[in-house]
Order: sequence, then structure tokens, then C-alpha cells
Amino acid sequence: MAQPIIIDTDPGQDDAVALLLALASADELNILGITTVAGNVPLDLTTRNALMMVELADRPSVAVYQGCDRPMVRPLVTAEFVHGKTGIDGAELPNPAIEPAATHAVEFIVDAARATPGITLCTLGPLTNIGTALSRAPEIADGIEEIVLMGGGFFEGGNTTPAAEFNIYDDPQAADIVFRSGIRLVMMPLDVTHQALTSDARVEAFHHLGNRAGAATAGMLEFYERYDRERYGTVGAPLHDPTVIAYLLEPGLFGGRECYVEIETTSELTMGMTVVDWWKLTPNEPNCLVINQLDDDGFYALLTERIGRLP
Ligand code: BDR
Ligand code: CA
Repeated sequence: MAQPIIIDTDPGQDDAVALLLALASADELNILGITTVAGNVPLDLTTRNALMMVELADRPSVAVYQGCDRPMVRPLVTAEFVHGKTGIDGAELPNPAIEPAATHAVEFIVDAARATPGITLCTLGPLTNIGTALSRAPEIADGIEEIVLMGGGFFEGGNTTPAAEFNIYDDPQAADIVFRSGIRLVMMPLDVTHQALTSDARVEAFHHLGNRAGAATAGMLEFYERYDRERYGTVGAPLHDPTVIAYLLEPGLFGGRECYVEIETTSELTMGMTVVDWWKLTPNEPNCLVINQLDDDGFYALLTERIGRLP
């Protein structure tokens, strides 16, 4: 039976590719809804971009719910310098004809968690919608199977400050609520996503698919690569967010360790840092499976094959 999931996202080219991977995998994943949050770009654009992916995948029955337009406490930080003005520069797609659902994302998440015990939340952006839902209705934690999240970094450090990764830095208070919630967590930090690098050959493979989704993916990645190539001197860019969906589809591609993880919410210097007790130096019980290994060829093979199934 297909696994019931909600995808919470701030597209972003890598979010967009993650959405396409999930939308192409209906046999395994029952997407109850896509919820949007402000992050890489403001909320009106992340919502527009999510709708564009639903349309590109020809899955109009998957509803998109608009969520929070700013973090719970701190001001919104966006990342146009990585993703371009629209968030998905390079996609070259028309504006979507479909509209978001009328219900707010937080209300949808609370209702869905109550109605469907055993759902998995897949989070690809700042954790604002989830943190807000858990503050309003803490009892929903009991019915959530797990949260698989892209965020944080430990041995790799940060990508927004020396200490913090973008999704956690953007809303550390929301992340703190999630990490203290008692829900089973699986974390895809920079330590693993920096192994999921694009390359000319991998992008070319999307071009070769010959479908619209393949062309849009290749176009987005060609734009997205330039920032990481310049900053890190790598052959390509890390496809952070698709690792979350790939983990649900093929967990055997990944390896990690159960650890206790805490979020820095006080010091400005290290705000949003994910402090991982990798070596079990404290008596704290693990609250998170921290992933740090990836079969990158297997990951790209899965991604390319699934995006090839789309129109
Ligand atoms: C995360 O931040 C965003 O820029 C990406 O979409 C990803 O979710 C990586 O730090
Ligand atoms: Ca994202």
C-alpha cells in the first residue's frame, strides 16, 4: 500500500526536483498534500513553484496548501542568490493554471495528522509550518509515523553561517520544537547531501529523457549549479531535498547513526546549529537517525528513471 505523506517545501530548484520524484512515484507514495512555506523565496513564489511542478507532472488532484509566510520568531531570510529571482530559475515553464487550496497549510497538517494515523512528513524547507502545527495541536505528534527532513550539518558545518544550514537557520525555534517533539526523525544534513552532486553527465541524462519534466529538471540544475561550483569548487551542486524522497523510496541507498540532536536557539554566533551527539558523549537518548552515507550513483539512477516516467 502506498505510504501516506505530506511534503512541506519552499521550492527552490532542489525542492522542485524532489516534488517531481515524489509525483512520479504514485505506487509507493500517497501524497495527501503539498504544503508551502516561505524560505528560498517568499511564500507567493514557493506556492507558485509547487503548483508548477504539480502541473508539469500532470497530477492536478494533488492539492497545494499555502502555509506560513515568515518564521515563528525571527525575520525571514531568503536565498535568491542561490536559486534566482523566481526560486526555480532555469525551469522555463508557464505560470500555473491551477490554484492553491483554500485551507491554510497548518490547518491541513493538523487535520490530516488526526484523520490519518501513520503519516510521514517530508520537510524540504524551514520547519515553520510543522513547528506551528505542533504548537497548536501537540497531540498530533502521537499519530505521526516519522518526519524525514532535509536540514542541518555537523562534520560539514553550515552553508548559511559557518555553523548553520539554511533550513534550520531560517527558523531555529520551529526546528527546536520538531527536535523535542518525540516524533521519530530522520535527518538529511549537508554531510550526506554534499555527496549528491550533479555533474555534466548527470544533467545530460535528464536532457536525454526527451520529456518536459526532464528538460525542466536539466534547465533548473544548469542554473542551480553555478552557485555551488563557485563557492565550493565542486563539479556540480548538491541535490539536497530529493534525498528525503529517495530515502522513502530506497532506504538502502543511505546509511547513518541514531544520535541525540539539539538545536541552537540562543547564541547569535551559532544560531540554528544542529548539535549532534555523534560520539554519545551525553546521557541523552537518541532522537534522530542522522544520515551521512549515500550511494550517489544509485540515487541519480533512481531520480533519472522516475523523472523519465513523467510527461
Ligand atoms: C536547503 O536550503 C535550500 O536552499 C535548499 O532548498 C535546501 O532545502 C539546503 O541548505
Ligand atoms: Ca528546500
